[in-house]
Amino acid sequence: MAELFGREGVRGKLDRHLADRLSGSAPTLLAVTGMPGVGKTALALDWSKDRASSFPDGQLYVDLRGFENDAPVTPTSALHAFLTALGQPAGTLPKEVHELSAMYRTALAGRRMLILLDNAQSADQVRPLLPNSPGSVTIVTSRSRLTGLAIRDGAVRIELGCLSEPASIRLLAEIIGTDRVYAEPEAAAALVSLCGNLPLALHITGELLARHPVHPLSEWLDVMTGNPDQLDSLDTPGDPTTSLRAVFSWSYLALPAATSRMFRLLGLSDEPEIDASQIFRAFAEEKEVGARLAVLVDSHLLTSPAPDRYRLHKLVHLYARERAEAEEDPEYLVDFARRLRRGQRGEPSAGTCGHPLPLLRSQRIEYEGEAGTLALDKRGLMLHGARPEGASDHRPNSSGTCVTIGGTAQLAHLHGPEGHGAEGCPLGLPDSECRDSELRVAWAVPSSTG
Ligand SMILES: Nc1ncnc2c1ncn2[C@@H]1O[C@H](COP(=O)(O)OP(=O)(O)OP(=O)(O)O)[C@@H](O)[C@H]1O
Ligand SMILES: [Mg+2]
Repeated sequence: MAELFGREGVRGKLDRHLADRLSGSAPTLLAVTGMPGVGKTALALDWSKDRASSFPDGQLYVDLRGFENDAPVTPTSALHAFLTALGQPAGTLPKEVHELSAMYRTALAGRRMLILLDNAQSADQVRPLLPNSPGSVTIVTSRSRLTGLAIRDGAVRIELGCLSEPASIRLLAEIIGTDRVYAEPEAAAALVSLCGNLPLALHITGELLARHPVHPLSEWLDVMTGNPDQLDSLDTPGDPTTSLRAVFSWSYLALPAATSRMFRLLGLSDEPEIDASQIFRAFAEEKEVGARLAVLVDSHLLTSPAPDRYRLHKLVHLYARERAEAEEDPEYLVDFARRLRRGQRGEPSAGTCGHPLPLLRSQRIEYEGEAGTLALDKRGLMLHGARPEGASDHRPNSSGTCVTIGGTAQLAHLHGPEGHGAEGCPLGLPDSECRDSELRVAWAVPSSTG
C-alpha cells in the first residue's frame, strides 16, 4: 500500500484507544467518518496492517459497499462470510440475522481480533456485526456520521478532515516526483488547493500529471483553471467509477429527493461558506429546512463549522452547482441565486439593486495581460444586456460563449457607465457604484452554439 501522509495525529488517537482496550470491560468500537474520498479506508487499512501483532487471533474485514452503485452488503451475508472465516462450516449456519449474530458473538468471545467494517452505510447495517465481549477492536468507516452508533453503541467517532497543505504537497510529490514539485512550488501549491486537499482528488490529479512527465505544472494549472467544467480534470478515463463525480454521486443519489434538491441549490452560493439565516431565507417557503441541513451534515456533503454557518468543500460546491445546472430549470436557477444572494446581504435597501448575477461558472480569462474572473453560465442564458459603449470584442475561449470586455478590471458589469437601468445591477451593487465604474464593463450574449 502507498504511503499515507498527514495522518500522524489520527493514528496516535487510534493507538491510544488500542492501549485503553486492555483496561476496558466493553469491546472497543471506533467510527472513522468523513467526506467521500478523504481517506477513511486507507487510514483504517494502513493502521490495522501496522498493528496486526496486537491482534493475535487475527482480523476480519468486510467492504460493506454502503455508498456505491451496487446494493450495500446485507448484515446476513457479512455474517456468513465472518462465520465461515472463523471456522464455522457453511452448512451449519442459521437463517435469521439475529441467530447469525448470536453465533458470531459467541465465536468472538475470548478472542482478541480486529474487525474492520469498511464503507458502512448506516448504524443498522453494522449493529449485528458488533462483538459484545471485550478484547476485540471494531473499526467502522463511513461517509455517514453514524451518530446513532455513538449514542447507542458507545462508538468513539474519529472525524477525518482533508490534508494540510504540506501533506497534500508530499502526496503529490510522491506520485509525480519531488523534482517536479521543487521546480514549481507555487504551481504545486495552486494545484493542491484546486483539489481542496482531498486525497482522492490529489491522487487523480497526480496520476494525470504523471502521465505527462515533461509538461510543466503551470501549464496544467492553466488548463485546469481555464476549463469551465473544472471537475472534468478529476474524471478518470477508463475507470469511470473512480472519477470524482461518480464518487460524489453515490452520496448525492442516496439523499431523499427534497434534500438532494436543497444540496444542489446550495451550490449556487457564491461562497462555499453560507450563513444559516441566508439558507433559511432562501428556502423560506419550504418545510423541514433544518432537518434537511442536518441530513446533509450527517452525510458529510456539508459541514457546520459553527452553529449558524454551513460550508461546502470546494469540489463538493462545484459538484452541487453542476447538478443544479443539469437538473433545474434555468429560469428557476436565476431566481434562486438571487434569493440566496439577497439573503446573504439582507433585504436590498433603497438605492441598492437586488439583481445578483448568478455565478454558475467561474472562468479565468486574460484580457490585455490582466487575469480576471468572469462568472458565466455556459449557455449564456443569464448574461444579457445592452452592449456598453466603448466595449471592445474579445473571445477568450472557443466554447461558443461570446464575451465582450472593455477596460482592464476583473469583471463584470453587464451594463455601461450609464448605470444599470430598470433591471438593476446584476451584481447587486449600489446604483452609484455601477455608474462610476467605467473600467469594469462586461458584455455577454448567448452562446451561438447553445
Ligand atoms: N493520507 C493519505 N495519504 C496518501 N494517500 C491517501 C491518503 N488518504 C487517502 N489516500 C488515497 O486517496 C484515495 C481515496 O482514499 P479512500 O478510498 O481511503 O477514501 P475514503 O474516505 O474511504 O472514500 P469513500 O468515502 O469513497 O469510502 C485512495 O487512493 C487512497 O489510497
Ligand atoms: Mg472508503
